[in-house]
Amino acid sequence: MAKAELTVAVIGAGAIAGRHFSAVAELEGLRACAVADLNAERVEEAAAQYGIPAYLDYREMIQRERPDIVAIALPHYLHKEAALFAASNGCHMMLEKPMALSVDECDEIIQAAQIGEVCVLVGHTQHYMAENIQAKLMIDSGLIGDLVMIHDVRHTDYFRDSRPDWFLEKKKSGGGILANLGTHSIDKIQWLTGSRVCKVNASTSHNGNRGDVEGSGLIYLELENGMPASIVQAGYVGAARNETEIIGTKGMLKLMTGDSLWLSAGGPYERVEVPRSVSPFELQYMDLLQAISSGGDTGCPPSYGRDIIAILEKVYASAVSGKEQYMDWS
Ligand SMILES: NC(=O)c1ccc[n+]([C@@H]2O[C@H](COP(=O)([O-])OP(=O)(O)OC[C@H]3O[C@@H](n4cnc5c(N)ncnc54)[C@H](O)[C@@H]3O)[C@@H](O)[C@H]2O)c1
Repeated sequence: MAKAELTVAVIGAGAIAGRHFSAVAELEGLRACAVADLNAERVEEAAAQYGIPAYLDYREMIQRERPDIVAIALPHYLHKEAALFAASNGCHMMLEKPMALSVDECDEIIQAAQIGEVCVLVGHTQHYMAENIQAKLMIDSGLIGDLVMIHDVRHTDYFRDSRPDWFLEKKKSGGGILANLGTHSIDKIQWLTGSRVCKVNASTSHNGNRGDVEGSGLIYLELENGMPASIVQAGYVGAARNETEIIGTKGMLKLMTGDSLWLSAGGPYERVEVPRSVSPFELQYMDLLQAISSGGDTGCPPSYGRDIIAILEKVYASAVSGKEQYMDWS
């Protein structure tokens, strides 16, 4: 007997929505059923492209279409209200990262998902990127020995004209480059090392030419396994970089997420063959589908999304106070 299809409605037809639609189109057992966005032109365009109804109001969409899953691809300050509405209507969720603006908001989402008995995957895509998966396999195999330290560097033109204004308004985004891309780095470091952050020191150095958020920052972390880790991010014009170097007692990995993976077991870095199967977004949806059918957790449950926000709160607390911050995981 053919398996029943689950329907997916996408909330927010902006930059990332296409990745959700493409993944849904590729996967058996999923079908896009509707899209909602306040921007009439954008939502009509997406609806026409995917042959689905368009809504300006996502609440109306959820109540009329009764989707099994909603993908929440909204500005960060709207994640909580959309997630609460979805949970109260029994929709499973693909909730984009960062999960919400604060730990308190994350707690509200976690509680709503429990009451609604729905599965949530928080879109920490790093877990699903081909180079990252290969790096984690190599680390876990012991190939580079015991882990010694990890450092992560990201340079990108964060204040480019095409960036929507809300990303640069602190009350809507939760912060600048560290909230948006720094959360990817924190997630990547914890996931690759299998160890949680316990101590945070951070500084934010400068704002960009638009909005009121930081455009660069430095974070020094200590992990529960005793490893130090650093994150360096700069959002101004210059050469783009996205590199994570993982140093072990028997070798080093240079991870260029989305591009390539390099190993040094003594001499210069040599490129590692990275198997590519399906896109990270397809892997995310496969993970969510598995959780829905088994009743278990996703690989990025809301409790994990909350952990990342808890660390981000300490990053900003350290930057403001100039003092070291300790995670309280009790
Ligand atoms: N996983 C990743 O690698 C990745 C990459 C990019 C973005 N993201 C995340 O995806 C989310 C969306 O980012 P984006 O780049 O697509 O932003 P975007 O600004 O391009 O898209 C957001 C859309 O939401 C719409 N919107 C705003 N308020 C609305 C409302 N009340 N109802 C319906 N629609 C509304 C806007 O009109 C816009 O089209 C963010 O959480 C972002 O951090 C994740």
